[in-house]
Amino acid sequence: MKASAIVYTSNTGFTAQYATLLAHQTGLPLFRLEDSSALAPGTEVLFLGWLCAGKIQGLKKAMGRFFIRCVCAVGMAPSQGYAQKLAHDLGLSLPLYYLRGGYAPARIRGRYRLMMAMMKAILSKKTDTQSREALKAIELGADWVSAQQLEPVMDWLRK
Ligand SMILES: Cc1cc2nc3c(=O)[nH]c(=O)nc-3n(C[C@H](O)[C@H](O)[C@H](O)COP(=O)(O)O)c2cc1C
Repeated sequence: MKASAIVYTSNTGFTAQYATLLAHQTGLPLFRLEDSSALAPGTEVLFLGWLCAGKIQGLKKAMGRFFIRCVCAVGMAPSQGYAQKLAHDLGLSLPLYYLRGGYAPARIRGRYRLMMAMMKAILSKKTDTQSREALKAIELGADWVSAQQLEPVMDWLRK
């Protein structure tokens, strides 16, 4: 196994679901970043973080504390080509996997709610298929979590 623990951040629960699935599949101990003080500094970690405005939440903090071996970014964008775009935009020199999580409008609070209201206003002016689908997910919610998406991550862990 290439990591000795799984650490994650999650706002509405989708990243937590992936992290829990991975912990079950690997037997690795699981920590929420906010509750990871029991984990020794420098521990080799597989990190999962939810995406907010193109940034992986908690990654900087986790990198300052642990030896991050691999990163999983969880978002709502369609998977096609998104991992490559993220890797390019973030300039990460780490294995990076993208997992499509979901969107739970009722669980979005505070400034995140405001950000998504702005996103909704932008998307509602667009007519392309991807924007319409994104708008539908923002209005109605969506859940794309699947164990199948974790297969490349499991392959990386076992290598
Ligand atoms: C304010 C805000 C910004 C977001 N930005 C992105 C983004 O840049 N890319 C993306 O794919 N998803 C984005 N999302 C969607 C979340 O990443 C997605 O709902 C994810 O599954 C949330 O994971 P969680 O339930 O663990 O918090 C955003 C959501 C919110 C509320």
